[in-house]
Amino acid sequence: MAVPNLYWSLPVPSVQELARDIPSTLVPRRYIRDDVSDLTASINPSLIIPLLNMADLINSESRDAELQKLFFACRDWGAFQLINHGIPDEIIKNMKKQSRDFFDLPSQQKRRYTQKLGSLQGYGQAFVVSEEQKLDWNDMIFLHALPIKDRDLNFWPEEPQGFRETLDSYSIEVRRLAVSLLGFMAMALGLEAHEFSENFQQGQYHVRMNCYPSCPLPEKVIGISPHSDISAITFLLECNDTPGIQFQKDGYWVPVEPISGAITVNIGRIGQIISNGVYHSAEHRAIVNKLKERLSIVTFCYPNENGEIGPARGLITQENPVLYKTVSHADYFHRFYYQKHVGDQLIDSLKADASQ
Ligand code: OGA
Ligand code: NI
Repeated sequence: MAVPNLYWSLPVPSVQELARDIPSTLVPRRYIRDDVSDLTASINPSLIIPLLNMADLINSESRDAELQKLFFACRDWGAFQLINHGIPDEIIKNMKKQSRDFFDLPSQQKRRYTQKLGSLQGYGQAFVVSEEQKLDWNDMIFLHALPIKDRDLNFWPEEPQGFRETLDSYSIEVRRLAVSLLGFMAMALGLEAHEFSENFQQGQYHVRMNCYPSCPLPEKVIGISPHSDISAITFLLECNDTPGIQFQKDGYWVPVEPISGAITVNIGRIGQIISNGVYHSAEHRAIVNKLKERLSIVTFCYPNENGEIGPARGLITQENPVLYKTVSHADYFHRFYYQKHVGDQLIDSLKADASQ
C-alpha cells in the first residue's frame, strides 16, 4: 500500500523492541541502507560547528562581535551550538527525564499514543510512504505543543506522570528563546529584531522526541536519513552524551559533540526563505551507536499560521533582488506535504522565477 501524502505515515515496528537483544545477522533488511554508500565515509571530525553564546548577544557590550559570529554561523553552516540560552536547568532536566521515562514505558503503554492514519502526531514514525521504503533506526513521538489550540491531547502521554506539564513549560521556554534568537538573527542581517521575531510570538512549535536504540550494525543503518527541516529554526536537546547528529558542510559530514548545557540550533527552509537565501538551511542526519542508546528532543519553530512566508522586505534592494516567492502558510505546508517533498523541490518551487 502506498500512502497518498506525507501527512500519512504507514505503521512500522518499534525499533526499541526490534533492537532488544538482536544479533547483527537479524537486523531486518528494511533497515540495512545499501541505498547509501558508506556511512562512515566523508566524515570530517576536524571541522567543528560554531559555538554561540546567548549571553553575549543580550549584553550590549559584546553584542556586535557575537552578532557577527551569528551571521557567519547562519550563512556558512546553518547550524550552531548555543550556550547560556536561558531555559532554566530545572525545565531542561525535567524534559529529558520525561522523555527518557516515556521511552522506558512498556510497549503496550506507549502504544496508547500511536499515530492514527492521517495524523503525524503521536508515537510512531514520520514519512513512511511505502512498504518497500528503507526505514530509519528510531522511534519517535511527535506533538504539536504551541499554540495551545493545536494540541491534540489524545496523543499527549498521561504517563510518565508530569509529562504534560513539563512539555507545556518547556515549549513556552522554547518559544521565548526562538523569538529572542530570531530577533538577533534579523539584527545580524541589519534588520530590526521584530522583522523576524514578530511572526513567532504566536508561532507554531512542534516537538519530536527521538529514541535511537543501539544497533549491532551501526555502519549499515541510519538513525534519521539526510534531510533539511522545513521549520524556520529547530532546537535540539541531547538527553545524554551519546553523539549522533551530523551536519553537511563543504561536502563533509560533521559530527556534533554534545556540550553539557548547550542546545543545537539549525536553520530550516523557512529560515533560508525569510533571509532571502543569505542563511542556509543545513542538511543533517543522525547516526546510531553500537552500544549506547541516544535520545534527542527536537523542537521545530514555525511562524504563525495567519502570516505569510517570504523574504523580509528590508533585505530586498536593486543589488539583492528577491529570491523567493511569498506564499501563505497553508500554501507552504501544502507544497511540502502533498507535492514537493523530495530533495530541494520545496525550495526550488518557491524560487522567484519558478513557474508554480
Ligand atoms: C529531526 C532531526 C536529529 C536528531 O528530528 O528533524 O534532524 O539527532 N533529528 O535527533
Ligand atoms: Ni531534522
